[in-house]
Amino acid sequence: MRTRKYQDDEFDELLQKRLRSKQERSRNPRIKGGAAKWATSHRTPKSMPAIEIENLTKDYDVGFWRKRKVRALDGLSLTVEPGQIFGFLGANGAGKTTTLKVLMRLIFPTGGVARILGRDIGDVSMHARIGYLPENPYFYDYLTAREFLNYCGELFGLDRVTRERRTEELLTRVNLETKGWDRQLRKFSKGMLQRVGLAQALVNDPEIVFLDEPMSGLDPVGRREVRDLIASLRTQGKTVFMCSHILSDIEVLCDSVAILKHGRLAQAGSLEELRAGEAGIVEVIATGADAETLRQQLGSSAIVTTTASGLRIEVADEREVDAVINALRQAHGKLVSVQPVRQSLEELFLE
Ligand SMILES: Nc1ncnc2c1ncn2[C@@H]1O[C@H](COP(=O)(O)OP(=O)(O)OP(=O)(O)O)[C@@H](O)[C@H]1O
Ligand SMILES: [Mg+2]
Repeated sequence: MRTRKYQDDEFDELLQKRLRSKQERSRNPRIKGGAAKWATSHRTPKSMPAIEIENLTKDYDVGFWRKRKVRALDGLSLTVEPGQIFGFLGANGAGKTTTLKVLMRLIFPTGGVARILGRDIGDVSMHARIGYLPENPYFYDYLTAREFLNYCGELFGLDRVTRERRTEELLTRVNLETKGWDRQLRKFSKGMLQRVGLAQALVNDPEIVFLDEPMSGLDPVGRREVRDLIASLRTQGKTVFMCSHILSDIEVLCDSVAILKHGRLAQAGSLEELRAGEAGIVEVIATGADAETLRQQLGSSAIVTTTASGLRIEVADEREVDAVINALRQAHGKLVSVQPVRQSLEELFLE
């Protein structure tokens, strides 16, 4: 119950921040007209990084009698380019959520700086241009999904008609069944809440969306739908910063990834760059040839194994594939497939 309260408070703080941002907008005529207008009229120049983090450190105070510090982030620096889907990976307790909370200004860093859309993270008006899905999106559970999204839209200064339209658009976009739209959130399943959470992260048509474990609690169909939704955000030119444990989702979606270990950056770059150091192992699948004949022809450069459906020939260098194909031809074998054995993200993650 205590954890739940803590999360509610945190979410409340986020909404309060939006309220402050709304008040600031009403004071500043330049950005009058709501977040959507603001978002479209202030697109990030392509050259400016969407997110810059420099030497970010966060220590939590723990213990009651004997106070001590737990270092959750330790000199984290990274840059995210606009228009990218950026995957932020790390084992449990690596510091992913802490990073997002610092960026959302829900907690204060012990050291370091961060900028989003070229603005310091303390800049309130910048927060009107970004969206955030918290790790545990527990909301005001006596509101219905429709009421909750309307409320979020109101905090961003959207007028009633725009708000109502946007609410329906978003609930449709996250594939929440229409019969659930007017049901109280406390009657929602984890997956349904996750969808509402995603919808609220998009209420203000944000330029950057921060998603903490967006696939959490979703069934396989839900995961695919959310995957498509994230991909569609990229098509719209948005930047997405997502934390995830589900490496296959990261592998399919992300342009760049960073791997966090014990609060430090262990690896960063595009998936191709991260995989560049791997040996060029290639796997050839064939049928109709005798394994022993191939072994004799290819010598020690290839590992030939017999499988249920034929033969698997593995060579350590892609330049040796031609020799394998020649040997197969001579042995009257049939080539089924040739594919590089790529290092999976999982291997990189565990290294
Ligand atoms: N409020 C807090 N008070 C004290 N320590 C905390 C607090 N929140 C997080 N930590 C500690 O900070 C470290 C990083 O936690 P964080 O929640 O950022 O990890 P994470 O990468 O998001 O993990 P997960 O994948 O489990 O969500 C952990 O050691 C955690 O115990
Ligand atoms: Mg987390």
